[in-house]
Amino acid sequence: MAKQSGFLKEFFKEKKTVGALAPSSKFLMRRMLKDIDFDKAKVIVELGPGNGVFTKGILDRMAKDAILFSFELNENFCNYIRETIKDDRLVLLNQSAEHIGDALKEYNFHKTDYIISSLPLAVIPKKVKENVLSACTKYLDPDGLYVQFQYSLNAKKLLKETFNQVDIKFAPVNIPPAFVYTCKP
Ligand SMILES: C[S@@+](CC[C@H](N)C(=O)[O-])C[C@H]1O[C@@H](n2cnc3c(N)ncnc32)[C@H](O)[C@@H]1O
Repeated sequence: MAKQSGFLKEFFKEKKTVGALAPSSKFLMRRMLKDIDFDKAKVIVELGPGNGVFTKGILDRMAKDAILFSFELNENFCNYIRETIKDDRLVLLNQSAEHIGDALKEYNFHKTDYIISSLPLAVIPKKVKENVLSACTKYLDPDGLYVQFQYSLNAKKLLKETFNQVDIKFAPVNIPPAFVYTCKP
């Protein structure tokens, strides 16, 4: 699957889950990862890696003994990541992000230090969104962060209801420009 055209194809096939016409920019990736303390992070969860632009960024910065769980529903994106990213620290799960708890338990973890989410909250089914956010609040370490990008400010109310503190920054160098929500439990 070619990087850019593959994304467009998946968008038209799976509009209700992919939620983007193109992969995110490296600028947005850096903005998403700016507040992560990679010295402290031992367990990181990524939701919706797509073709892996944030996955690569996380692995490049992550400690040698840390682990990254990436949940991706779309099988073609999973295959693309498997082909292009070879890293033993990555646990790629072709499952819904709702299953964070099961994956952590299987690897004997109780919490995750950080959650990096690209899930398109504006389009995914309401029940899935509720399940994912409930799992995030349950399994995110109290000193951790939930970082999410969206193309609008529509998620502000929901994320403020879910987390204690929500900081929003604009990331203009992306197609389309995005908002990065950094949330504290
Ligand atoms: C907007 S794309 C972002 C992809 C990539 N992180 C980027 O920024 O370029 C959202 C991704 O979330 C995935 N996704 C949607 N719902 C999901 C769910 N419930 N669990 C896991 N992944 C999901 C989609 O398949 C898609 O790859």
